Amino acid sequence: MSLQGPKTNALFDKAKAVIPYGVNSNFRYWGDDDTLVITRGEGTYVWDADGKRYIDYRLGFGPIILGHGYPAVVKRVQEAIQGGTVFAWTTPYEIDLCERITRMCKVDKVRLTNTGTEATMHALRIARAHTGREKFIKFEGQYHGMADYFMFSTASSSPKSLGSKRSPINSPATSGIPKGITQYVINLPFNDSERLEETIEGQWGDIAAVFVEPMLGNAASIMPLPGYLEKVRELCDKYGIVLVFDEVKTGFRIANGGAQEYFNIQADLVTYAKAMGNGFPIAAIAGKEDVMMTIQPGAMAHGGTYSGNVVGTAAGIATLEILEKEPIIETINKRGEALMTGFGEILDEAGIPHAVTGVPSMFGLVLGVDQEPHDFREYFKGDGELYENLALQLIQRGVQPDGDAREPWFLCYALSEEDVNETLNIFNDSLKAAKA
Ligand SMILES: Cc1ncc(COP(=O)(O)O)c(C=O)c1O
Repeated sequence: MSLQGPKTNALFDKAKAVIPYGVNSNFRYWGDDDTLVITRGEGTYVWDADGKRYIDYRLGFGPIILGHGYPAVVKRVQEAIQGGTVFAWTTPYEIDLCERITRMCKVDKVRLTNTGTEATMHALRIARAHTGREKFIKFEGQYHGMADYFMFSTASSSPKSLGSKRSPINSPATSGIPKGITQYVINLPFNDSERLEETIEGQWGDIAAVFVEPMLGNAASIMPLPGYLEKVRELCDKYGIVLVFDEVKTGFRIANGGAQEYFNIQADLVTYAKAMGNGFPIAAIAGKEDVMMTIQPGAMAHGGTYSGNVVGTAAGIATLEILEKEPIIETINKRGEALMTGFGEILDEAGIPHAVTGVPSMFGLVLGVDQEPHDFREYFKGDGELYENLALQLIQRGVQPDGDAREPWFLCYALSEEDVNETLNIFNDSLKAAKA
């Protein structure tokens, strides 16, 4: 069984001739037979090169919050770029967008970048410069982009490579990272307050930052246990450590003010990307006055030719304006709740133990578990193979989640009640086929 029709297959062959593995990001390669070539997106749908339509729950790995090609955003970008795209000076677009972010996310200052990787990379430098310390803590199964420092024990790591839970190992997620930098990285299991406290008490004088995805947006949307993020905040305050919320996935998606609003905790620095521009490349580092003002010309560098360019800022302004004016996230949540409940009922009926994790706008589905996982190691108790079979059956029938249960189901505003019902019907059929 291959996901590719003949035209997709022919185009993918052409892609492989000029692009390693035919993709411009390794995460998009699903093998020679199952990697799709997409020619168009509109609203909640995408079409492949054979003209097959899918209800899209990957949404480009999360950026699409309104819908593909959302007319109000596209129009704003088209109008703005008539007047040029990049100037090496400040533009009113940048001011407008940063004002919106400060208002929506209750942050003092913002610097714009183009991608999540650029945002987290600069956030780490700011935290180090601010504290004069060099190490940082991150959590297993969390992904903070492609910079070398973050490429340890990510969602791509295998469970065995992580070492024991009491004494975790930094597991490199790629070749090509200098061995030396592992000494600056401390990976810990998520949701384990005791381990975190012990580690910080032992090494706080060396620790610049705690980087956390407030919920595990790259590991099945595992949620923080009650009180956990509060404990992280308390420890960072006590020991002068910069708390960084990586909201590249949660920002402008789980609430207008992201995870800070959802969990009612303010970080010192926050990184945004994805939903901020509904699919246009725009990202940000934001945070408290004293930490953000560590950036200083000639002293602490942040830069980028395309930072704050007109394409991204115009898209960001249009997207955030719509989020503030219309009940976007409420509507998405209603659809998401219907899917979470519906999937649960279908799985119950089929006698498959499972956990539906996360929040309605980005939820996870872990099959073959009796209890909800609370960290990345527990996630692996699930039946990844059954999930992958189910995903392939769904995609064949025109519903497109990721093939890997670690990637959440992302929803956008364009998803209608009819789309939800169609998804539930197809889910029912696909599950029967996957079990068979
Ligand atoms: C939490 C998180 N941080 C950072 C990134 C990196 O963002 P980008 O792919 O835009 O560089 C991602 C990407 O998926 C992410 O999920």
